[in-house]
Amino acid sequence: MYDPYYYVFTSAEDTSIIRDIEKAVSGEYNAILCYAKLAEMAPNEEEQERILEIRQDEVRHYQIFSQIYTRLTGKKPTVTEEECPDCYKEGLDFAFKDEQNTVDFYQNIADRAKDLHVKQQFRRAAFDEQNHAVWFLYYMNKHCRHDKQHGVKEDD
Ligand SMILES: [Fe+2]
Ligand SMILES: [Fe+2]
Repeated sequence: MYDPYYYVFTSAEDTSIIRDIEKAVSGEYNAILCYAKLAEMAPNEEEQERILEIRQDEVRHYQIFSQIYTRLTGKKPTVTEEECPDCYKEGLDFAFKDEQNTVDFYQNIADRAKDLHVKQQFRRAAFDEQNHAVWFLYYMNKHCRHDKQHGVKEDD
């Protein structure tokens, strides 16, 4: 059976990985806030629902990573709040880049982690983020094409 205390006493992760896990918690926390704002700005229900689904994945990641961090350190992670874009298209662009960077970041954590549970969770999350990135790219393309057809300038 899965025993959370097992990890406290067998954890051999180095400080750089612990720092990265805390950074991952903070990133998820900010994604949760920004995607709530982005969903509110969505131009239709389909996109709004998709963004809220993505946000639910981030909530799950946030919980899993927080638990991992606490298990490894015995402390609660500290998060740093960051600003979210104020307009929809800017938000999509920001989200796409952030998701793409996060894929690499999580895969790197998974590669370095010694703990199998940490490895698995970061691999799985990297896969989710890749999927999120594709959705944001799809919406970006959709809106840019629509703008071109209707003669709206890129930076509107
Ligand atoms: Fe995430
Ligand atoms: Fe994501």
